[in-house]
Amino acid sequence: MSWAPDSWRSCEALQQPHYPDADALAAAERELAAYPPLVSLRDVDALKAAIGAAQAGRAFLLQGGDCAESFAEFSSENIDANVSLLAAMAARIAAASGLATIPVGRMAGQFAKPRSMPFETRGGTSLPAYRGDIVNGIAFDAAARRPDPERMFRAYAQAAATVNRIEGAAYTSHEALLLPFEQALVRTDPATGRFYGASAHFLWIGDRTRFPGSAHVEFARGLANPIGVKCGPALAPDMLLALLDILDPGREAGRITLIARMGHARAAAALPPLLRAVRGSGHPVLWSCDPMHGNTVRTRGGYKTRPLEHILAETKAFFAAAAAEGVACGGLHFEMSGRDVAECTGLGVTLSEADMADRYHSHCDPRLNPAQAMALADLVAEALGNADRLDPPVLAGGAA
Ligand code: PEP
Ligand code: CO
Repeated sequence: MSWAPDSWRSCEALQQPHYPDADALAAAERELAAYPPLVSLRDVDALKAAIGAAQAGRAFLLQGGDCAESFAEFSSENIDANVSLLAAMAARIAAASGLATIPVGRMAGQFAKPRSMPFETRGGTSLPAYRGDIVNGIAFDAAARRPDPERMFRAYAQAAATVNRIEGAAYTSHEALLLPFEQALVRTDPATGRFYGASAHFLWIGDRTRFPGSAHVEFARGLANPIGVKCGPALAPDMLLALLDILDPGREAGRITLIARMGHARAAAALPPLLRAVRGSGHPVLWSCDPMHGNTVRTRGGYKTRPLEHILAETKAFFAAAAAEGVACGGLHFEMSGRDVAECTGLGVTLSEADMADRYHSHCDPRLNPAQAMALADLVAEALGNADRLDPPVLAGGAA
């Protein structure tokens, strides 16, 4: 089957906003299609080569940042804090493991969010769900929630300024969810004729949109970028192998990163069949552990949180399952903030009223704060084999 930047349009596209003004959407797509790429295509190639080295056991992929970037939280202070935390985690893991670490931010484009329900109802009023700042506003009023294509320009500008600020300290990545935007950012390499998703170095397909026949899989299939696939508990081994055949028929080094997010209670049982099936298929993949998205729970007040002890438990279970199957855990995927937020519980965060009043800021899922993120980095450093040089992570007070 031939591929084109718009061939996804004849497939099933889940999680897309309904734009009431189709002409405005088409005009925005045309305008964006003429804009400069947000990343250099040669840097995309460099990241793919680096992930290839990680697949061969010579490097470790460290991918983290906000669940959702927002227009409101855009500042050089926030960007710098996230980049510094990623660097501190990378240094810890590199020192303990002797592996080169590849820092990749969930940054400079992580704006669009999949939602469990298309509408949100409060007090008898139903409005379109918030789908991230690139689509609509988080405030619960009809004007804010109306999907507005003009928001794509602000997202583009914020991503461009963020790339500029990061300046080589990390590669960029996001979920390639909002397909009209992603298509508008496809660029061709004049030297080879290959197509690149030029909105970020690394793009991933979310757990809700990675089914065979999905528009997101069709879109990613034709891009030269390294591609991530989120693997949740509903993913069967034969379905994963079918996805690998579609996304990486040429079995290219560095092409595929599988990001497992099973939840701490399911990881030990769910991972081995997938690890075994992929190993048996001979597809070269990088297995990465996302210990965040399977461990989201609600507080009594209805806020989303994640207990650090569950995040650490899933990470341990991942390393154990990978070791038992003779597969390397070559990456970590997480949501964190370089600011001292109180969103995940543990290491002193209890989500008390005071925490909720001024330290809970996430636009979407709860993020690790710097102390919690370093505890996770310690655990990974230990699991990669040089535990003796480090103190084991200690969970002090407040773990939920
Ligand atoms: C995410 O990474 O923010 C996300 C929504 O993940 P998943 O697709 O794994 O649920
Ligand atoms: Co998230």
